[in-house]
Formats: sequence, structure tokens, C-alpha cells
Amino acid sequence: MWKLLLFVLLALPAGAQELLGHGGPVRALALLPGGGLASAGFDAAVIWWHPASGQAQRVARWHGGAVNALAALPDGRLASAGEDGRIALWPPGGAEAPAEVPQAEGAPVAALAAAPDGRLAAAGWDGAIRVFAPGGGSRRLEGHAGPVTALAWGADGVLLSAGQDGTVRAWDSAGTPTTLAERGLPRTALAALPGGGLAEAGLDGQVHLGALSLPAGDRPVVALATAPGLLAAATAGGAVTLWSLPEGRLLHRLDGPGLPVWSLAFSADAATLWTGGQDRRIRRWEVATGAALGPLAPEAAPAAPDAEAFRACAACHSLAGDSAPMAGPTLHGLFGRRMGSLPGYAYSPRLAQGDVVWNRETVAQLFTQGPDVMLPGTRMPVQRMQDPEDLAALLRFLEEATR
Ligand code: HEC
Repeated sequence: MWKLLLFVLLALPAGAQELLGHGGPVRALALLPGGGLASAGFDAAVIWWHPASGQAQRVARWHGGAVNALAALPDGRLASAGEDGRIALWPPGGAEAPAEVPQAEGAPVAALAAAPDGRLAAAGWDGAIRVFAPGGGSRRLEGHAGPVTALAWGADGVLLSAGQDGTVRAWDSAGTPTTLAERGLPRTALAALPGGGLAEAGLDGQVHLGALSLPAGDRPVVALATAPGLLAAATAGGAVTLWSLPEGRLLHRLDGPGLPVWSLAFSADAATLWTGGQDRRIRRWEVATGAALGPLAPEAAPAAPDAEAFRACAACHSLAGDSAPMAGPTLHGLFGRRMGSLPGYAYSPRLAQGDVVWNRETVAQLFTQGPDVMLPGTRMPVQRMQDPEDLAALLRFLEEATR
């Protein structure tokens, strides 16, 4: 009976409000067609989420370093890129490996932007921008002195870029740049406004919007997001500010747990702002009030004091034998099961080796050493449990709930 109660508790809001799945800060977020959400992290993972249920549907650990940027293409595919200089295109819903790799090596990529016509632009740390055409082929745009840090497509199909050289540029169809602004200080973020126009920000925490200058904080701006009539900015100091446009009126400065954040995205109806945190979590905020949504750290039910420990797993693992597909395999029947042996689940080659049998000792080892140390090459997020009490609670919980 209590097991049933647990399923209900675990399936409820905590998951839906707060998504925990990354093994490091969440560096990029992208809203996907149909209301899905994708996130990318310093842990090299890309995760596809079902935001309404809080479930992770797929984890891909393919990049060789931090994933700095995501872009949703109009056809439902997702582009990802980062430290390793590779650019990947993923099929709708995600996969273990990309469907296409338009750039297999190159300078680290700081930003990506997808145009409504399917063109994809990538900002290189080497100072070049590469633009990939939907049908194949690419061109290289050079002009920035130093790394390109941010990209956006203007309403008129013009590519906009910003760089560490302090300039903001517009590129015409022939690939010739015009300098739109020269700020002296490195630029860190750009966003094209839905009705036309551009927001850009830099190291000094100021967001420039045409003639307006909006103070986001006194530290570098790390992310900007826009929706019709709205602009959000996050700074490295932990300030997240929401303004209404076009007048630039301050709506809210977010106050709550999980700050600072590295990434921002509005939901499709602009009622919700998602933030990707330094603390590895993705949180939801109500745009109308600026409030952190839902119970942020719900108390575990008194009847199941150990259930709390499983919250770190619930986004990716079911406990039921017949669950719908999630990012990780169901943990039903875990103890005594050989690693990587669940039929129908596509394990990484490391887990598929099956050289471990799961029991109290091996699960404990997984979370004291960390999955990355015990099973290098696994798609599990990097996570370690420092507190022996937490680990003991997790093991007690798993022993009961996975039977
Ligand atoms: C972001 C999603 C995610 C989270 C959060 C997560 N896991 Fe996993 N887990 C996975 C994936 C993906 C795999 C399969 C990995 C592979 O094939 O390399 C996996 C595999 C496992 C396995 C091996 C299962 C088998 O059939 O061999 C165990 C055990 C496990 N996870 C336990 C946990 C526990 C306990 C937690 C919480 C403390 C947790 N995981 C949190 C995604 C996750």
C-alpha cells in the first residue's frame, strides 16, 4: 500500500516543477516544437524532457566536453555544440547518437542559432561563424577579432553576432558584416526581439535595447531570452530580471532557490520561464508574478522517510515493471539483476558489458565512486553521494521499492 502512495508522491509536482538530471550546471535550454524542452550541461549531456510530467525522456552523452549551446530547428530536430568543437543534429525526441554531424571537429562553439528557414549558425571560439544550409553545405564568416560569443537571427533573416571584441554585427546575404554597436567591453549575450529589434548585453551587466539601457546586475550577463512583449536576463552574480517590452519596464527580479542560473527559456505560451541552474536543476517560474512555482523541496511523506533520496533519480527511472519509456531503464527488480540486462532498453556499450550484478554493495559503489568512475562511458549523470546517511536511505528505499 505504501508503495502505491510513493509512486503517487514521486509522480507529483516535485518532478514537474524542478527537473534534476544533469551532473553539472545547466548551460543551455531550448524549447522544442510541441512544448518539449531540451537541456545541455557542463557534464557533456543533452537531455530531452517532458516538462509537464518532469520526466527525462532521453539522455545523450556524446559530446566530449561541456555542451554550451542548443538550438531547436523548425523541423523538430535539435542542434547541440560546445567545448569539443563538434556540432550535432539530433532527431525529434533525441537518440543515443546524432542523426547528422555537420561539423566533426573545429574550434569550441559558444553559441548556436537556428533561422526559421532551417539555416543553422555556430559561433566559434576561433573568431569565425559557420552557417549551415538546410540542404547541406556551409559557409564561413569572418570579421570578429577574437571569439564570437553570441548569435541570433533577426526578424528579416539577417544573422546577428556579438563577440569578445565588444562589437555587435549584422551579416548580409553576401556575408559582409556591418557593425551595429561597439561597446568596448566584451559582449556575452544576444536575443532577437519577436517584433524586430535586438537586445544585447555584456560583461558590465547592462542590456542594450536600441536607445534603452536596462541594468540586469553588476556582473556579466550570461543569458537572455525573449517572448512577445517580454525580455529576461540572467547574470553570473545570480540576478534574473524580467522586463516588459517595448518600454523596458521592470516586472520582476526573481527571488528563490537555485540562483545563479546559466540559461533561460520561455515556455511557448510565455506564462513560464525555465531557468537552468548552477545547482544542476531546471526550475520553473511564473512570469506574471515572478514566483518560483510549486513546492520546491517537498517534505518526504512521514510514512516513507527514505523516499526523499530517490528524488534525484525519479526524473529518469521508473520503479514499475511496465512503465512508459524514460531516459533510464526501470529499476524494478534491480537487486540481483545483471547490469545492462533489461530487454528492450538501449544501454551504452559500457553497461551492455554486463560485468556487474546490482546489489547493495554495487549500487553503493556506483554512488560513492560516481557512475563516471565506476562505469566510464555510461550515460548516467555524474553524481556522488557525500553523506553516508543519504546513501543508506537510498539503498533502503531501493530494496523495498524495486521488488
Ligand atoms: C538524467 C537521468 C538519470 C538520473 C537522474 C539517474 N539515472 Fe540512473 N541511469 C540513467 C541512464 C541513461 C542509464 C543507462 C546508462 C547507460 O546505458 O549507460 C541509467 C542506469 C542506471 C542503473 C543501471 C541499470 C541497469 O539496468 O543496469 C542504475 C542502477 C541506476 N541508473 C540507478 C540510478 C539511481 C539510484 C539514481 C538516483 C540516485 C539515478 N540512477 C539517477 C539515467 C539517469
